[in-house]
Amino acid sequence: MDIQHAVAQPPLVIRREDYRPPAWLVPDTRLAFDIDPAATRVHATLSVLRNGAHSEPLRLDGAGQTPLSVVVDGVAVNDWRVEDDQLFIPLSGDAHSIETEVEIAPDRNTQLMGLYASGGNICTQCEAEGFRRITFFPDRPDVLSRYSVRLTADRARFPVLLANGDPVAQGDAGEGRHWAEWNDPFPKPSYLFALVAGDLQVNRDSFVTESGRTVELGIWVRAADLPRTDHALHALKLSMAWDERVYGREYDLDVFNIVAVDDFNFGAMENKGLNIFNSRYILADPDTATDYDYDGIAAVVAHEYFHNWSGNRVTCRDWFQLSLKEGFTVYRDQGFSADQGSAAVKRIEDVRGLRAAQFPEDSGPLAHSVRPDEYQEISNFYTATIYNKGAELIRMMATILGPTAFRAATDLYFDRFDGIAATCEDFVACMEEASGKDLTQFRLWYSQAGTPRVSASLEHQPGGGRATLRLGQRVPPTPGQPVKQPMLLPLKIRLFGAETGRPLTDERLVLLDSNSETIVFEAVTERPVLSINRGFSAPVVIESDRSPADLAFLSRHDDDPFARYEAMQQLMLDTLVAGAVEGRADHEAAIAAVADTLDNPELDRAFVAEAVLLPSEAFVGDQLSSVDPEAIFRAREALRRDLGRRLEDRWRTAYAQAPQIPYVYSPEEKGKRRLRNVALGYLAAAGVPDAATLAFRQFEVADNMTDRQAALTTLVSSDDDLRIAALDIFYNRYADNPLVLDKWFQTQALSSRDDAAATVAALAEHPDFTLANPNRARSLVGAFGVNQRAFNRPDGAGYRFLADQLIALDRLNPQTAAKLLPPLGRWRRFDEDRAALMREQLERIVAQPGLSKDLFEQASKSLD
Ligand code: PHE
Ligand code: ZN
Repeated sequence: MDIQHAVAQPPLVIRREDYRPPAWLVPDTRLAFDIDPAATRVHATLSVLRNGAHSEPLRLDGAGQTPLSVVVDGVAVNDWRVEDDQLFIPLSGDAHSIETEVEIAPDRNTQLMGLYASGGNICTQCEAEGFRRITFFPDRPDVLSRYSVRLTADRARFPVLLANGDPVAQGDAGEGRHWAEWNDPFPKPSYLFALVAGDLQVNRDSFVTESGRTVELGIWVRAADLPRTDHALHALKLSMAWDERVYGREYDLDVFNIVAVDDFNFGAMENKGLNIFNSRYILADPDTATDYDYDGIAAVVAHEYFHNWSGNRVTCRDWFQLSLKEGFTVYRDQGFSADQGSAAVKRIEDVRGLRAAQFPEDSGPLAHSVRPDEYQEISNFYTATIYNKGAELIRMMATILGPTAFRAATDLYFDRFDGIAATCEDFVACMEEASGKDLTQFRLWYSQAGTPRVSASLEHQPGGGRATLRLGQRVPPTPGQPVKQPMLLPLKIRLFGAETGRPLTDERLVLLDSNSETIVFEAVTERPVLSINRGFSAPVVIESDRSPADLAFLSRHDDDPFARYEAMQQLMLDTLVAGAVEGRADHEAAIAAVADTLDNPELDRAFVAEAVLLPSEAFVGDQLSSVDPEAIFRAREALRRDLGRRLEDRWRTAYAQAPQIPYVYSPEEKGKRRLRNVALGYLAAAGVPDAATLAFRQFEVADNMTDRQAALTTLVSSDDDLRIAALDIFYNRYADNPLVLDKWFQTQALSSRDDAAATVAALAEHPDFTLANPNRARSLVGAFGVNQRAFNRPDGAGYRFLADQLIALDRLNPQTAAKLLPPLGRWRRFDEDRAALMREQLERIVAQPGLSKDLFEQASKSLD
């Protein structure tokens, strides 16, 4: 077992206000690795410099390590001590050379932090605090060092030896071993260190930068996976060109390598010049990856590549500034993806993701601001708030500044902070300086948690008179922040005429900066309908008094595609909430709006597919004071059935639009597939007699995973026995492909059948299930946690199952366990009986002996 953080005393809280600059700097670092999966020797030589006048000893982080030797300026010393995972070395002068040696066992590293083994290869993961599990070092992002690295390993087992930067030399080490040296000329924090030793093949290409330098690109995978790397490589080249064109950022080394591994805690990691990826964000071919997977791969490849500037060249001063690199980089990758296809559909997907993951976080026990004030375990702060709300903050500033000033501001930021560990404040100050705009109040977005709620009501004096828009805002209390100040909310607004359907005003950007405000529009000649928060210009909840008829009107006439989608969603949401609360609802307005959207030939198919999809059960639950999962499920099924039956002809027509064969990954074809599969879902919901046959035929003849998985998903929630056949066929066909087997587990975990919870419990005993692989754990345990009805069964079986899995997973991989906890923390949103059952499981988790601080922090906060 390999857990350092047994919780005995009250956990240590790290506070942002306690930040102090490092006492010692490390301008140069030389590392020599003698690789052996069971016993790897790491020899480190650090040049250290006293930072300012003080008499503190050198203090190096080294989680769970004991040095085999400590050498100062070439002389072995023994006046060092290790205390609380830190090595203290007293030093007399201002500059010294320090050598340490440690031995570590990558093949026993189940946390997947530091140096670990995956599929027989050896790799690293250092962000945020993994480097201290490899060697002694000031493991904090504001200590930037130049690294040179020598790797020695068995040539047959590890023919490929990679590290950051550029390759320098390689050679034979005798006794079947070989070595390679890598040199990274750019000073970097330890969290960006990486190495890989493995038996890998490479898909190579090159990219010529704007200034004419040739960069060698390589994607390294197991030989069998090589044919599935072209899409990622293509996305990498598109990303490189995009960052030059849109942000003026050029790549800076001669090589850029990406390695894919099957065991990875997150999506991917931006190590300088050597990105390491979860294989699910690299490997794709039509037979095994969905359109959604293809999109995800391009987005993550772009994201990690963009970090070379937003994260690596300009890095973070401390981990409280995490959103400085993550929020900005997500904003950048969203812009990239928007440019590859439909920007409107991309925005809709991003907002849906924000509402599914970030809004619940912001209204629950784990709510924190985009720049948090404290943490126990930094790994718990790689959240939707830091990433996705952080991206929304950047987007709002870009909206307030306008494109020209925003670009000037990012240029200033990259230029001024190149090679520096910066703060969120530095970023905002550049936005102000380049634009001359005052963002004092805007800064509250960084410090105040919680999703602002905006009320909007529009009154009109009939007969060509004045229209008055009353806006209000309220930021709800969050843990540790009972009282909030009004924020600066950029709201794009436009009025449309109810009779003509034409716009009555231009689009305006309203900067709502107080608790309430009134905006007057003169000479409004017909009854106006309000379009607000167009493009989702601010990440807020809008509470408006627009009638179902007005929402339906906007879904037909609004010229902003997001607002049009939003009007439809709001209409459906109001219908579903009424259905859940009252047991029945009037479906007519929603049915008519869906019909009109399907009938409109001018709309892009991908947009139509998004617009006619019902809000998720969880999102409906978020609107209610107490979530009733059964009532929500029934209301949603009723509306789905009605939409399916009443519009059956239209769904059949949409379904008959034959897809292109063979598979083509293009925005057009993606949109067609999406709409077709949405249509299949509605036909199944309608209970048409041939629904299962249609799905099963699609399952069998599909030449791509998008259609095959969509058909499987439909079958898996049905009562038809064809679902058993389809699951067997799918399993046998892909038994040797772990990424596709994840889909097999996930699809069943998301089933809406009554027996879903029992099926999930049985699948946890399946020979292919393991908690040791994070993707597999997420595909079953993570997916089950978002299956609102199954997870929240009244008997509490879902809660017990999740707690059992988390307790077991925590012993292997605390980071991944802690990530899966949030569904249990939502007890306040449910009735008393469920709340008691959830709390019981949280208490059981907290009481576990030897619990990690990761899971302890999340579970104990969730009980408060
Ligand atoms: N920095 C990575 C990213 O967002 C995420 C990550 C965090 C990966 C921690 C591994 C560990 O691109
Ligand atoms: Zn990132």
